[in-house]
Amino acid sequence: MIDDIRAARSAALELIAAAATLDDIARLDQDLLGKRGPLAVLKSSLGGVSDLDERKAAGRALNAATEAVTEALGERRRALAAAALDTRIAGERLDLTEYLEAPRRGHSHPVTQAWERLEDVFVGLGFTVAEGPEVETDWYNFEALNMPASHPARTEFDTMFVDHGGAPPGTTVLRTHTSPMQIRAMLASPPPLYLVGPGRVFRRDTPDATHMPVFHQIEGLVIDRDINLGHLAGTIEAFTKAYFGEGFTSRLRPSYFQFTEPSGEFDIRRPDGRWLELGGCGMVHPNVLRAGGIDPEQWSGFAFGFGIDRMAKERHAIDDLREMYTGDIRFAEQF
Ligand code: PHE
Repeated sequence: MIDDIRAARSAALELIAAAATLDDIARLDQDLLGKRGPLAVLKSSLGGVSDLDERKAAGRALNAATEAVTEALGERRRALAAAALDTRIAGERLDLTEYLEAPRRGHSHPVTQAWERLEDVFVGLGFTVAEGPEVETDWYNFEALNMPASHPARTEFDTMFVDHGGAPPGTTVLRTHTSPMQIRAMLASPPPLYLVGPGRVFRRDTPDATHMPVFHQIEGLVIDRDINLGHLAGTIEAFTKAYFGEGFTSRLRPSYFQFTEPSGEFDIRRPDGRWLELGGCGMVHPNVLRAGGIDPEQWSGFAFGFGIDRMAKERHAIDDLREMYTGDIRFAEQF
């Protein structure tokens, strides 16, 4: 009997020592000290021990074993509870000395920066800013700009057509330039007009270092009484100085556009003497004024248009235009 009690006691103490959680302890408490526990079973067999001394000794041993198991359970419970509390506290610990790196602030893309600066400069010169749709009708993009359907000049534009079922194929285009905004502006409000219209334009071009099929232009339009080529040249020069700085000058070269007459290209001269071709310009063609509902006998005006991406490329000395559209943050971060 005594041997059985000793065995039960040490088995119980071993189980308690191995308990890993408070749930284990709760379960062991039931199993070891409950009515069906090993000690209880032994206790119920005490009656079968006939020798009184032996029975007394076994009873004492059982009591001592029960006490030892109870105490071991209590001790292990306290130890596990303390460990659980430590873990919880460690998890909830708030390190007030911890230094978090300040969040990184982004900035706008170099093309957006150029776009916004151009707007600012022209607003400073007294222009307002207009916008137009990127998907245009043939009429706004070509016809109203003095390029009728069969005009060979249209082929220069490498147009992308949009087929949407709502209009005959070949009559809806992704605008090839910002010039349709001239017509929209003239139809929207009576002269005098002094406005610029920046926007995205599309041409069926193969991307290379200086071309992209999607790029940005800014259109300028002035309509007033007695506007002449001198006003155009003066405006381009004032813009050049305001945008690039005092060390820069501009020049006009004869050129040809269907929607201006006479037409020119304008270049800017950098302080190092290098010329940079910027865009096209000219006096608004009478047919274009008429398409915009303006009487060419009473009003005259000039228009210009140039690439924004190229300005950004030039300003930041970017070798390849394609770099700007990879979406690579390591590139954009530099500007
Ligand atoms: N729209 C012309 C182009 O994309 C540029 C231009 C604008 C020329 C206004 C004259 C007047 O090449």
